[in-house]
Amino acid sequence: MIRTILHYPDKRLRNPGLPVTDFGAEFQALVDDMAETMYEAPGVGLAAPQIGVSLALFVVDCAEAETPSDFRVFANPVILQTRETVSWPEGCLSFPNAQEDIERAKWVKVKAQDRNGNWFELETEGLLAIAVQHEFDHLQGKLMIDRIGPLKKRLLHRKMEKRATAQARAGA
Ligand code: NI
Repeated sequence: MIRTILHYPDKRLRNPGLPVTDFGAEFQALVDDMAETMYEAPGVGLAAPQIGVSLALFVVDCAEAETPSDFRVFANPVILQTRETVSWPEGCLSFPNAQEDIERAKWVKVKAQDRNGNWFELETEGLLAIAVQHEFDHLQGKLMIDRIGPLKKRLLHRKMEKRATAQARAGA
């Protein structure tokens, strides 16, 4: 089932993700819904708080076009180590049509639980490393607008407020 993606400045995006403790049927359905919602958007990552679910859970698929999918589930993720920094143009499904250059670690080592609750560790760089950090932020209620300079922040905030007002008027 495709879930509704919350858009900034929806306050629910600020709710932190609480630990996932139950990997049962309800959780499996949630993961399936998040995959469906992410692919339909389309996006390369989606965090549970973006669909109004306050769990420490995100999904990503950073496979390049015309390559097999690389769907990954991260429950209760912990970033263990980072190296170097890189500036990357990022988008976010909660900020439609916005793109901002954001500085992140170039390389990360992360541990998390997969959809069956098994812990795994991943060392990665490139788009997947960026996506992991971006989605990890969502679980702390942190958004890309929090990582840009004051002028860009004001512009993006205004743009998103306008968009929200227009949508409310249109009854969307
Ligand atoms: Ni995002």
